[in-house]
Amino acid sequence: MGIMEIGKVPVTRLAEKCGTPLLIYDEEKIENKIKSYMRNFSSPLFQTEVVYASKAFGCPAMIEKVKDAGASLDVVSGGELYIAKVSGMNMEKVYFHGNNKTSEEINTALEFGCGNIVADNPEEFRTIIETAACTKRKINLMLRINPKVAAHTHEYTVTAAEDSKFGVSIDHKEKIAVLIKTAADKKVTFKGFHSHIGSQIFEASAFIKAAGLMIGLCSYMEKEHDIPCPWLSLGGGFGIKYTAEDDPPETETLCRELIRGGEEAIRSAGVKTEKIMIEPGRSIAGDAGCTVYKVGYEKIAGDKRYLFVDGGMGDNIRPALYGAEYSCDLAEHMGDTKDKEYVIGGKYCESGDIIIRKAMLPEAKKGDLLIVYSTGAYAYSMSSCYNGTGRPAVVFVKDGRARLVMRREKKEDLMYLAKDQEVKI
Ligand code: LLP
Repeated sequence: MGIMEIGKVPVTRLAEKCGTPLLIYDEEKIENKIKSYMRNFSSPLFQTEVVYASKAFGCPAMIEKVKDAGASLDVVSGGELYIAKVSGMNMEKVYFHGNNKTSEEINTALEFGCGNIVADNPEEFRTIIETAACTKRKINLMLRINPKVAAHTHEYTVTAAEDSKFGVSIDHKEKIAVLIKTAADKKVTFKGFHSHIGSQIFEASAFIKAAGLMIGLCSYMEKEHDIPCPWLSLGGGFGIKYTAEDDPPETETLCRELIRGGEEAIRSAGVKTEKIMIEPGRSIAGDAGCTVYKVGYEKIAGDKRYLFVDGGMGDNIRPALYGAEYSCDLAEHMGDTKDKEYVIGGKYCESGDIIIRKAMLPEAKKGDLLIVYSTGAYAYSMSSCYNGTGRPAVVFVKDGRARLVMRREKKEDLMYLAKDQEVKI
């Protein structure tokens, strides 16, 4: 019977000190993952840039890691822009995404000195140009394209189907050229195109296919319309291992294949691509984080043996929303035979609040610590205080030391927005 350790600290000690549910990040895993992307995603043919998608998990401590590694940052709202700014991110290395940026958000981006905006649709593209024209700021502008490459993933995370909500269809080449020409002679420099085909994708071939199509589009713009497209972003979406069935490629392999695919497409199209970017989110934060819950009651219903824990859909909506699967262990029984089948149920008042539908574990009892792996991406960032249950605390652990980076949401916090004030009509 072994006790699980993260960053050389026993999980039992972390739970004792910080309470449960607790999101624990192994700092070294985050650092190694970013470094691996920075090292492997490089080419002698063009510059490269790794842009961390902060929507996967964005807080000052995480942004610190991105900064330290020399990577860039993807944000999708005024809120994420603000977090980046107050976390001391170099705003020139920030890319502002999203499909419906308000004028207020665009102004904030300009005011904060955000270097790059990625427009999602023609109307937004024009609004960004008009807004920038009224300020002294210069901005690099990119346009999101839907390359229509089908990738195998959950329906909610597919972004490049024919009728997807994101980006301008790659079929509309002429309209795209006309649109880009409206950016000429303004404070805006059109830099190129962006695509993001979905999330939790394992096949490098889908990204390579998208890269080829996007480079084809750049070639068309350069040759037919004399529109330079020096930058190309291939987005994020690289999958991670949640369960034994998942088989994602290693970062090195993925980067090598993406780079090779990019180089080949650039050579054969003869385009003048200066820089290619990628935007990994999940694959940097995902398996660096895990959630520790305390086991409460057990209940047998029909042929199911429920094990209830002190968290659930409030701290991780992914199983309820996407049918996402996870693996788990009892943190104080590592290595014990896992011969009991449980349904891990959350504590929220919803039948759908099941964290793991089929979990094989050693015999569990009240008070045990259950560790759910790979919850580092899109769990905390999508968390809520549903049922009046505050968000969990987050700790970063490394070399036997732990630091609390997000404190637990207290019940008093649940009232801080409450107000009763007349609205003057
Ligand atoms: N770039 C853009 C433009 C994106 O929309 C996204 C994710 C990323 C990069 C990062 O993708 P990643 O490398 O993390 O897959 N909530 C869902 C995932 C939604 C992804 C949204 N966009 C989930 O929990 O599976």
